[in-house]
Amino acid sequence: AAREPLKVMISGAPASGKGTQCEMIVEKYGLVHISTGDLLRAEVSAGTEIGKKAKEYMDNGMLVPDEIVTDMVVSRLSHKDVKEKGWLLDGYPRSSSQAGTLEKMKIRPDIFIVLDVPDEILIDRCVGRRMDPLTGKIYHLRNFPPETEDICARLITRSDDTQEKVKSRLQTYKQNSDAIFPTYFDLLRKINGNRPKEIVFEEIDSLLQQISDGAVKPKNMEVIAGN
Ligand code: AP5
Repeated sequence: AAREPLKVMISGAPASGKGTQCEMIVEKYGLVHISTGDLLRAEVSAGTEIGKKAKEYMDNGMLVPDEIVTDMVVSRLSHKDVKEKGWLLDGYPRSSSQAGTLEKMKIRPDIFIVLDVPDEILIDRCVGRRMDPLTGKIYHLRNFPPETEDICARLITRSDDTQEKVKSRLQTYKQNSDAIFPTYFDLLRKINGNRPKEIVFEEIDSLLQQISDGAVKPKNMEVIAGN
């Protein structure tokens, strides 16, 4: 029998490579990518009421209040394309209350991926990150420079990518992440994200392939939570 479309959550500290891996996952598996960071940044640049409220929290490296973020995610998850293609939740849930909301709605992933990268690397990745506003593609000035001069000329820097703000985002991540891991304990896979992005993707790809093939039931996967 045809398998249900994949349902994937990806988590990890700021600049651990979630967005980069999501680009590759979407390309291969066609899942609907739902990034709360991207959704919030779109509200900020459109100057909406939600965007105005969210900007202050984002610029201070704090979590945007649940009622704003949760409504956005729940409404996006109810779209038809999500049911048909499956979903890839990036940056949500990020607190125990957000995880609790999804649990109450019986929304659970097939796998909960955590990208693990040392703190000092994360800061360098954020400070060097640039985004292409036209394609949404993520670059790094040294690790992944843009392909052409035209792209280079239009790249933008995120306002929360300064050294100070990254430190506070990292602290927020550490305060909240431990609280959500128990909810997904049986589905959690920690992956070393401090390797070339293609190697990180190979490992994720192999896990997703196993789930798609039905060869391995997620609950039987080796659990490395808590290391
Ligand atoms: P969000 O946009 O989710 O930011 P984040 O978690 O800080 O993660 P980033 O987008 O910074 O990094 P990433 O892991 O995607 O890394 P990337 O692939 O870009 O959230 C922003 C804010 O929104 C939050 O602070 C909060 O205020 C709010 N928010 C969002 N979700 C919320 C929620 N659920 N509840 C409440 N508030 C919420 O890579 C980073 C850099 O490294 C790039 O330059 C890339 O090219 C490079 N790189 C990637 N992989 C590699 C590799 N393998 N080797 C070398 N370099 C690499």
